[in-house]
Amino acid sequence: MEDVTDQAFRLMCRKFGSALVYTEFVSADAIVRSIRSTLSKMTVSDEERPVAIQIYGKEPEVMAEAAQITEAAGPDIIDINFGCPVKRVAGKGAGAGLLLDVPRMLAITRAVTDAVQLPVTVKTRLGWDADHIIIEELAEQLQDAGAQALTIHGRTRKQMYKGSADWAPIARVKANPRLHIPIIANGDITDGDTALRCYEQTHADAIMIGRGAIGRPWVFEEVSAVLQGKEPPRHDHEWYLDVLKQQVDDSIARSGEQRGIWHIRRHLAATPLLKGIPDFRQQRVAILRAETREELFELLDSVPPTSEKV
Ligand SMILES: Cc1cc2nc3c(=O)[nH]c(=O)nc-3n(C[C@H](O)[C@H](O)[C@H](O)COP(=O)(O)O)c2cc1C
Repeated sequence: MEDVTDQAFRLMCRKFGSALVYTEFVSADAIVRSIRSTLSKMTVSDEERPVAIQIYGKEPEVMAEAAQITEAAGPDIIDINFGCPVKRVAGKGAGAGLLLDVPRMLAITRAVTDAVQLPVTVKTRLGWDADHIIIEELAEQLQDAGAQALTIHGRTRKQMYKGSADWAPIARVKANPRLHIPIIANGDITDGDTALRCYEQTHADAIMIGRGAIGRPWVFEEVSAVLQGKEPPRHDHEWYLDVLKQQVDDSIARSGEQRGIWHIRRHLAATPLLKGIPDFRQQRVAILRAETREELFELLDSVPPTSEKV
């Protein structure tokens, strides 16, 4: 996820039991132009393996060249993003924009798979809008074009992130006997119960968790336990607080105090540790306004334990 799944966060997710992590999407155009800030998004380390680097773009040749540069960065998998709905990407014919131009999507998939040795996987949505749910046919086409796994976010481009994810089309894809590549279900999986339900309803080979990990990287621990039929572990308040503080420190170590705090605000904003505390609103605003590590940690330390599920 853009601005979310940096290396420190990926390592934390792996530590809590995520089986595979992905970088944020990286622009193929920027990769081939050697933009430094872009190339830094492709730094992966052995501790986070298996790790995928995700790329996006609209020109098959540029994507193929970018994939070769990406391969040299040493990921285990190259993932292609055909799912991003935002205007600056989809509106320019990349990401989910390619749901309107399937021949080009397939040409990109073929060009990328032909250009590298690494496995190439694809992530996309159900279709452009509710009148054009094309995923069942598209899944076969992507497999034939060389995709070695397919992640399906159960929404259309038009839905952006609104409404709820529809897993039924994912189940239909999975039931297609012609398909042999792993199908990864994505959308609205936030805890053990939704993970279990998604597996039951789709029979997917794997599930992917996005937003449910923001501010809650221990979701992978919970989901792993539930999927194994175990009680999810419960930790004390200090434990959860320490995870959050570790995220702050990781971010500061990466970007310096000010930028590090700005960067981690998305996680702070999503933390469930404030749920149900008496002065929730003021505490949250104060935490999101804190400018220094000292100020932020003081505020975090003053958060009383919540009785709600975190
Ligand atoms: C802030 C943000 C950034 C995202 N960036 C990416 C991205 O770079 N690549 C990608 O494949 N999906 C990205 N997504 C989409 C998620 O990976 C996921 O497909 C979507 O949010 C639905 O799954 P969820 O309900 O588990 O979050 C992003 C989502 C959010 C909220």
